[in-house]
Amino acid sequence: MQDQAYKLRLLAQDLHRQVEEELKARARTARVITVTSGKGGVGKTNFSLNLGIALQKLNKRTILIDADLGMANVDVVLGLVPRYTLYDVIKGEKEIDEIIVEGPDGLKIIPGGSGIQELANLDRERLESIITQIYRLDGEADLIIIDTGAGLSQNVMSFVLAADEVILLTTPEPTAITDAYGLVKNLFRHRPDSKVYLVVNMAESDEEAEMVARKLEIVTQKFLQAQITCLGYILNDPHVARAVKMQVPFIISYPSARASRRIKEVAARLVDVPDYGEEKGLKGFLDRMLAFFGRRQ
Ligand SMILES: Nc1ncnc2c1ncn2[C@@H]1O[C@H](COP(=O)(O)OP(=O)(O)O)[C@@H](O)[C@H]1O
Ligand SMILES: [Mg+2]
Repeated sequence: MQDQAYKLRLLAQDLHRQVEEELKARARTARVITVTSGKGGVGKTNFSLNLGIALQKLNKRTILIDADLGMANVDVVLGLVPRYTLYDVIKGEKEIDEIIVEGPDGLKIIPGGSGIQELANLDRERLESIITQIYRLDGEADLIIIDTGAGLSQNVMSFVLAADEVILLTTPEPTAITDAYGLVKNLFRHRPDSKVYLVVNMAESDEEAEMVARKLEIVTQKFLQAQITCLGYILNDPHVARAVKMQVPFIISYPSARASRRIKEVAARLVDVPDYGEEKGLKGFLDRMLAFFGRRQ
């Protein structure tokens, strides 16, 4: 009898711990997604900004953080002149939620500090403090998109490794592909459970983009025993450069241009990623718990 009471108590304790863990996990609801690339100039900033707007259009509350420290330019692409930037947060003079500006379609933007050399060489402590602040934005968004610089610098890798998910952008240029693979390799070495998506940008055709994606998928599988998921292809589109000149995101200035249509598809796929469905989180847990008790009656 005593033995049974003891077992029940253990079971209750165990359940209590599970509920606590689940609630803790539940408290963090925003998906934090870093956009990065091996090589520079492949279109990360344009992609991130237009993706953010596309997500807003899908009724997902989105925050875009310009974390290309040292060469921030979301503000330039948008024609914004922000009063405060991440630089003020790093100096400890502002909290991250005080520097948010509103962009198109209600997209929230955290501007980066343009051309400030100090930002490109942050020490570990300051980087960690920014990342902690980013996680504090949690309840205010469904998705947090972080636009980073290119390559394997410590700054970029910190953002890449801190995120739940990573979108890797590449063009069909051989150097961009090689550098993309270098980044993937580094990423999986540091974090074997990384969730990595691929987007091929500026391809001349779907066939060309598909070849790039297959190549990267195959080498990642063969040499790293890891998987990357392709989210789509954004073709080379002259509307992108035109929109940059006008300082109006292409998804707004040219909504039916092929780049805009593809960005919308990528946003829809991102929202649909099965791991983040309704059955996860607290509801899933409660369902499992009820099923568990049901079996015992
Ligand atoms: N799909 C595209 N088609 C044509 N040009 C593009 C496309 N995506 C980006 N570009 C151009 O590439 C250049 C670099 O883009 P940007 O977003 O600043 O790249 P990154 O942030 O990776 O440095 C810009 O001049 C932009 O107009
Ligand atoms: Mg950029």
